[in-house]
Amino acid sequence: MKIAIANDHGGYELKCRLLPFLQDEEHVSVIDFGCHSTDIVRYPYYAAKVCNAILSGEADRGILICSTGIGMSIAANKYKGIRAALCDSPYQGQMTSRHNKSNILCLGGRCIGDMMAMEIIRQWLSFQYEGGRHDISLGLIDDIEGENLTGEHWDCFPQEM
Ligand code: RB5
Repeated sequence: MKIAIANDHGGYELKCRLLPFLQDEEHVSVIDFGCHSTDIVRYPYYAAKVCNAILSGEADRGILICSTGIGMSIAANKYKGIRAALCDSPYQGQMTSRHNKSNILCLGGRCIGDMMAMEIIRQWLSFQYEGGRHDISLGLIDDIEGENLTGEHWDCFPQEM
């Protein structure tokens, strides 16, 4: 499975500590879209990189990290076909795979510790979407997207990235 990962300055340190763990996971390869320091950047650009990677098929799933995980989840969920889940417990990590078919996991780099982040990721990766009655809710979300989102590509990356 190809996992696209990105972060802003608030998520950089947790991302650095998670990369070795992800690289050790079996059947996982990581595409790191930055940013690569604690210099201040704008998280929507990084959310866009991971969303585009998933929507184009370059990656299967994504992980986005900012200070709280909130900004990244808000930005990512503006993309048609993206289901980004902000999780701060392993149970949420598991349930969002099983019930929401989330294709992006958002984490708060200044909210959770390394071990917690790893366990959330482990649970998120270990469980499959269950389908069945959950298809009804996902279908309704598709309906909302169909009415409210165009699905047009946002091509607004600044040069310095
Ligand atoms: C950056 O200071 C912070 O706002 C960002 O990392 C994120 O937590 C936003 O939701």
